[in-house]
Amino acid sequence: MIDSQKIRADFPILSQTVNGKPLVYFDNAATSQKPQVVIDAEANYYKEINANIHRGVHTLSQLATDAYEASRHKIQQHINAKFSHEVLFTSGTTHGINLVANGFASFLKPGDEVMVSALEHHSNIVPWQMLCEKTGAKLVVIPMNETGELIRSEYERLVSDKTKIVTVNHISNALGTINPIKWMIEKAHEVGAAVLIDGAQATPHLKPDVQDLECDFYVFSGHKICGPTGTGILYGKEAWLNKLPPYQGGGEMIATVSFEKTTYAELPHKFEAGTPNIAGGIVLGTAIDYLNAIGFDNIAAYEHELLEYGTKRLLEIEGLKIYGPEVSGLTQKTSVISFNLDGIHPYDVGTIIDKLGIAVRTGHHCAQPIMDFFQIPGTLRASFAFYNTKEEIDALVEAVKRAQMMLS
Ligand code: ALA
Repeated sequence: MIDSQKIRADFPILSQTVNGKPLVYFDNAATSQKPQVVIDAEANYYKEINANIHRGVHTLSQLATDAYEASRHKIQQHINAKFSHEVLFTSGTTHGINLVANGFASFLKPGDEVMVSALEHHSNIVPWQMLCEKTGAKLVVIPMNETGELIRSEYERLVSDKTKIVTVNHISNALGTINPIKWMIEKAHEVGAAVLIDGAQATPHLKPDVQDLECDFYVFSGHKICGPTGTGILYGKEAWLNKLPPYQGGGEMIATVSFEKTTYAELPHKFEAGTPNIAGGIVLGTAIDYLNAIGFDNIAAYEHELLEYGTKRLLEIEGLKIYGPEVSGLTQKTSVISFNLDGIHPYDVGTIIDKLGIAVRTGHHCAQPIMDFFQIPGTLRASFAFYNTKEEIDALVEAVKRAQMMLS
């Protein structure tokens, strides 16, 4: 059970006013807010153990290294990876996807196919387009339907022995659609394709089990799960990470260096060149502890309640259209409501409701192909987290009604 008032007290930012009104933060799909325990952990790292990792014999360096590796181990357990060296620290989801896409340049030839879905964020489209340009491989797109779901029969038709990698999000950032990734992974493996799952929008709401999914890669961002910005994780199966070439050259990723030849370090260091975001990596572990203490079952159930309530309340507004799947159970859609008011530009509504203290995202949400599909310039997106409340949804509904009155 979620006690939202108790939880809200953990987040200092939530008690502020914006434009003279209590802040209603509904832009959680863009980034989550941070609890005090995370803010303190970041400060304490710099106050107490700041030193470079894996480099010094001195005590502080050891303490920092131990804390960093302990966090890696914690994340390994959280996503149920088999080995902790399958867990790479990155700067975020985009970094993880680029690392894999870049490495796949060594494996592809003209005629091979890279498969993305119509529901992807630009960060899971553009790196693959760049890869296709470089290698002559073809980008194939799994289409979606009017309710914002991938068309399963089309996926089955398109996936073939030409497909070398399928890269799809676990949950759509723009619509909240939960994709049937376990089934998709199975189908891809039947034809020998690898699968990368973009978990950026899933990890705030659920605990992925990478062994159960059997995905080859799973990427996500720390800042969307109450952790610091500039942190993220790339999980890769050991065999794939051994096969992929390094992404960046530099210190820490080598075994030996001479001007004649360099050999690379073992996993995970082969992919972690340079001084990383040490504080961020450690504090990401703190954020994961915080979320696990609340419990992902509790988070999912409570957020679903907010989704149902928000959908019902928003649909009371005449001329309001919601994009994405129906809210019928826990497995169709996460707590994201993407909507528009008939005849009114989303940006105008977003600007007015901001004056009333309400933060939503407006625009194409870095998912222009989805907006093109619906032939709209963008949407307003309210994305709820476990620290939001029904009272805040009521405030959103009143603000949207007011904007509609002003703009009609
Ligand atoms: N990917 C983030 C979003 O959907 C930034 O808003």
